[in-house]
Amino acid sequence: MSLIYCTTILLIISISLFYIYAKYKLSYWKRRGVKTPPTHLLFGNFKDLLTLRKPAGEVMREIYNSADPNDPYIGFYIFHKPMLLLRNHDLIKQVMITDFEIFPNRRFGSTKQKDSIGLDSILSIKQPRWKYLRSKLTPFLTGQKLKNMLPLIEECGKSMLKFIENLLTNKFVDNNCEMKDLSSRYVSDVIASVAFGINTDSFNETQNTLWKNGMKIFQGIKGVISFTISFFIPEWCFLMEPFTKEPAKYFREIFWDSINTREKIGFKRGDLMDFMLTLKNGEQNPIYKFEGDNLVAQLASLYIAGFEATSNVIAFTLYHLACHPEHQVTLYNEIQTHLTEKQLTVDLINKMSFLDCIISESLRLHPPLPIVDRTAIKDYELPGTGLIIEKDISIYISINATIQDPEYFLNSNDFIPSRTVEDKKFYDSLVFGIGPRSCIGQRLAILIMKVALIRIVSNYTLNYEKDKKITLNDAIHVFTYAAGGLYVRFKKHSHE
Ligand code: HEM
Repeated sequence: MSLIYCTTILLIISISLFYIYAKYKLSYWKRRGVKTPPTHLLFGNFKDLLTLRKPAGEVMREIYNSADPNDPYIGFYIFHKPMLLLRNHDLIKQVMITDFEIFPNRRFGSTKQKDSIGLDSILSIKQPRWKYLRSKLTPFLTGQKLKNMLPLIEECGKSMLKFIENLLTNKFVDNNCEMKDLSSRYVSDVIASVAFGINTDSFNETQNTLWKNGMKIFQGIKGVISFTISFFIPEWCFLMEPFTKEPAKYFREIFWDSINTREKIGFKRGDLMDFMLTLKNGEQNPIYKFEGDNLVAQLASLYIAGFEATSNVIAFTLYHLACHPEHQVTLYNEIQTHLTEKQLTVDLINKMSFLDCIISESLRLHPPLPIVDRTAIKDYELPGTGLIIEKDISIYISINATIQDPEYFLNSNDFIPSRTVEDKKFYDSLVFGIGPRSCIGQRLAILIMKVALIRIVSNYTLNYEKDKKITLNDAIHVFTYAAGGLYVRFKKHSHE
């Protein structure tokens, strides 16, 4: 037998075996009576994401939409791994809240990750270590602590206003400003200040700031690949090392610089660094020790989780305000009513109810993280369905598809801040995840967004060029972006 003949036979056998294997694996849901969309033999239902043709949020939305309107769930595959997408609101609450002890972990990250900053962060850590860590970090992001952060946030807001002012006065610069660029600089400065305890000026191009380094984590093909792997193929996390090495090194450097200085001079600033110092010097529990990279990991993860999400919402909200002058006027009037001569306080901010409506509608249309997931730690029967979710099967929720479902929202793609819908609380919360593992930074994020919007809207009117076509939620990334940018022009209020 010739070599070519043998190779051909081997190839045919291999392809046939792969075909039989793939077909069997991809029948997992069919064997359990669960519908799935048409599936690719190699990529499962994630071909468009894994070949970087569509963003994750849109791929998941298509899976959601391929079910019938009343289907409580739909199965799908990432490669050959079966996953379940929940559509029914009661089932979502059941898994995320009521039966949380069966679903305490997300798939994000993995023990195969080489960098301990990624491995031991609150985003990826598994139960029971997660519960201990969360209980230690929660006190930092609530109540009085947030009130203490307001002056630090305001300071960063001032740099942002100065930047806008320069745009308006500099004849040589076009004041058609990209909102994500603006908001990401502001949010990066805020997180640097309240978390790392350092003053950065991301609006000053000459500085090597946290912003510049933060952008490296999210932007470009490296960002897409790292986040796609972390969220959807965590088994491959070991491949990410070349992408995470440099940012991890940078986070280590600024963390230890800041904490060592703090310890040396015994200075307190009411920020997360003070809090980390207390954890570092406090009694240690073997379940999770606040030492070395474990400390850096928490600050890095707050930055990573908070930076992109919060700046995206500010950018989209400013864009929508520019498109809707009528809402701008209402918001401006509300701010003027509450702020007359008074200093900005958390209590005053909380009285601005239209501001709340503006933010929640913007979040509904562009949830920064369009997907959440949970993994079963043991076999579990999904109530009222008879379906057994086997141990290690992951459950997904398509946040964007759920909160934009035309079944529940009239003119679901329109920006209508005054909309009233049944179960609004559920939709508002879902953007931050629900249950014990929901976003730990929700209140801080809302405060950061509100300060930016209040300061900008009370000083400027926003306009956008109607002929400039903008496509929303279209960039290839796990987070929600507008690929072409969100451009807005500022004009100083005439009475000032
Ligand atoms: C508008 C801004 C934000 C949005 C929409 C958002 C959304 C989310 C979502 C959807 C999750 C997953 C929740 C789940 O799995 O149920 C999450 C988790 C998380 N977020 Fe946020 N987030 C925002 C801002 C922030 C900020 C400012 C911080 C910190 C400073 C932060 C820190 C975190 C952390 C640490 C987690 C993981 C919590 C855990 O596993 O216990 N987020 N966020």
